[in-house]
Amino acid sequence: PPLAEVLNLHDFEAVAKAVLTDKAWAYYSSASDDEITIRENRLAYQRVWFRPRILRDVSKVDWSTTILGQNSSLPVYISATALGKLGHPDGELNLTRAAGKHGVIQMIATLASCSFDEIMDAAAPNQPFFLQLYVNGDREITRRYVQHAEKRGVKALFITVDAPQLGRREKDMRMKFVGDDAGAEVQRGQDVKKNEGVARAISSFIDPTLSWKDIPWFKSITKMPIVLKGVATAEDALMAYDAGVQGIVLSNHGGRQLDTARSGLEVLVEVTTAFRARGVRLPSPTFDIFIDGGVRRASDVLKAIALGASAVGVGRPFLYAFSAYGQEGVEKAIQIFRDEFEMNMRLLGARTLEEIVPEMVDASALRSH
Ligand code: FNR
Repeated sequence: PPLAEVLNLHDFEAVAKAVLTDKAWAYYSSASDDEITIRENRLAYQRVWFRPRILRDVSKVDWSTTILGQNSSLPVYISATALGKLGHPDGELNLTRAAGKHGVIQMIATLASCSFDEIMDAAAPNQPFFLQLYVNGDREITRRYVQHAEKRGVKALFITVDAPQLGRREKDMRMKFVGDDAGAEVQRGQDVKKNEGVARAISSFIDPTLSWKDIPWFKSITKMPIVLKGVATAEDALMAYDAGVQGIVLSNHGGRQLDTARSGLEVLVEVTTAFRARGVRLPSPTFDIFIDGGVRRASDVLKAIALGASAVGVGRPFLYAFSAYGQEGVEKAIQIFRDEFEMNMRLLGARTLEEIVPEMVDASALRSH
């Protein structure tokens, strides 16, 4: 269907399913084991209800923000997703160009199909980026990668901490990996294991020994803010805060890692409750709580913000958008978010993101409330 007929982010998924190869669809859409967590990521948002306020002169509404000090036209960033060329010949550059044009921040994946430098070379002047890091067993490779990224102007380092081993995505594993389009950088010289699905075949370098003891080393090799991506409990959120990193992403990796892990939204309530009990004021100027997984509407984002998130990551919808329509698809996805923010903020009675307060949602149906 023509792009004009795409009305919401769900529509991109249906189009992508129709146009993608079986292999690409399996890799992008799959989640681990029984795919319970990926379903829960959507269901959790449906358990939170709005408490909208009225008569507030909402003629002007503004949903722009800063994320880790960088201007962003949306309280949404493009989360790292690997292997963009499975979906479109230009791969991640579709994200880069659309993000640059519309003031959105892209998190570059370690396992992007396009090389890191290709992506940076396609950037608009002063376009901000974050870098997602899978930590290599050979720390020298990781050190060089991180320091190169910092030198090229990347603004923050998101270390993925929920993937000491990749989850079993059985839909993906049923596809045989043909091995021509693995992540460009880290992949070089890597022994690609066939017949394990795309994800497993490219991830054997990820270091399962990674631990809290490594955090000071990361702080010693970079001045970029460090964010731990894949925190799933209040205990670890507090440990991250104590370790002196600048933030966390409450995430289950889009349901692709530990199946029946809780949704980020569920965890968010547990985390903010624990921080308040500790006397940490939120939002904190030195520590950001991000969340991702299952966000498909601006209303989802507004619920997360009301419950204490600084901003929200979105993965598959942008992948599906460029798989189906290239850069234009990503631009349309951003436009859809914009239109939805405008309408939802008006209807909610919030003129700025600061006016989105906890009282604007009823989250009592979230279990950890
Ligand atoms: C991912 N995600 C991911 N995360 C990460 O830290 N490194 C990676 O290489 C990838 N790769 C990846 C590939 C694909 C195909 C998907 C769908 C996801 C997880 C991603 O950053 C994010 O956490 C989720 O995608 C968020 O959930 P939604 O928005 O896809 O529901």
